[in-house]
Amino acid sequence: SDPALVERARAAKQALGDRVFVLGHHYQRDEVIEFADVTGDSFKLAKDAAARPDAEFIVFCGVHFMAESADILTSSAQQVVLPDLAAGCSMADMARLAQVEDAWDALVDAGVADRVVPVTYMNSSADIKAFCGRHGGTVCTSSNARTALDWALAQHGPDTKVLFLPDQHLGRNTAVLELGMSLEDCVVWNPHRPDGGLRPEQVRDARMLLWQGHCSVHGRFTGEVVDRIRAEVPYVQVLVHPECRHEVVTRADLVGSTEFIIRQVEAAPPGTVWAIGTELNLVRRLAAAHPEQRIMFLDKTVCFCSTMNRIDLPHLVRSLESLAAGRVENVIEVDPATAEWATVALERMLSLPG
Ligand code: 13P
Ligand code: SF4
Repeated sequence: SDPALVERARAAKQALGDRVFVLGHHYQRDEVIEFADVTGDSFKLAKDAAARPDAEFIVFCGVHFMAESADILTSSAQQVVLPDLAAGCSMADMARLAQVEDAWDALVDAGVADRVVPVTYMNSSADIKAFCGRHGGTVCTSSNARTALDWALAQHGPDTKVLFLPDQHLGRNTAVLELGMSLEDCVVWNPHRPDGGLRPEQVRDARMLLWQGHCSVHGRFTGEVVDRIRAEVPYVQVLVHPECRHEVVTRADLVGSTEFIIRQVEAAPPGTVWAIGTELNLVRRLAAAHPEQRIMFLDKTVCFCSTMNRIDLPHLVRSLESLAAGRVENVIEVDPATAEWATVALERMLSLPG
């Protein structure tokens, strides 16, 4: 990266000192991660954001829903800055509040809503998290999806159903691989159809109502690619994120959140051969940090998460320099009514065991 920009970032961060705390998601560019005070997956960063109540500014190098969660979990005196306001998430955009409310009304009409617990993946807007808080549900991340589903399914006895938002893959993979449900226990709710595109008996019998959303990066890995790499690369260990399709995770050796993926690589002996199915910035960084292992990207035709990559060094420099000059730009502020219920859902998640 441009040495002049690196120097400007360093100078602005130094001038701000303890007033600023920079969080970096593992999918961020190297040039940004270099300036992060902490790095983590969504779960770790949600906790880390709350761990520095003395910092006036939290600069969140990640995407919009993460910055919203940081705003909710930090004190009102702290301001959360997202260096590029266009850093959204296509998956989070697949569940809009009005659509979720319509789906809920359909579940009320079907006579099942009193047995449904809504659980939203962290990758959702604050108003979806608030919806879950208001309706007795919770939030989960890819690190604690199993614990959150265990909790949710125990809320109304054996007939409890979960409405899982917005990532159908994380919902299905967790239910089937970790909770031992069958694929038939899981049905997909199509938000573009008033009845979810489901027959009444499907809604009645399902245990998991999976919102029809997916990650545009992880959703691109296929089972065929896993089969091909196994045929071509002897002793390869396939390590993937649970946002991948079911056909991918069932063919993988190991499945877990980005923190889990990092832990597996860090604990592996020299000479281990990996094909990793997650965001490319993280895979490249792992490969550079572990030359004693052979680390490949699962599919060379899949590229970076374009919205994560919007946060680059020029945007970070702009944020840090404007804060140092007394201007607070790109503040993410969740409105108090939404924040109140989203807090309920997020705190339920943070109080889950593990
Ligand atoms: P985790 O950080 O929970 O692994 O989620 C991955 C992701 O896609 C974040 O946008
Ligand atoms: Fe959203 Fe997928 Fe990008 Fe994560 S990797 S921010 S889920 S589009």
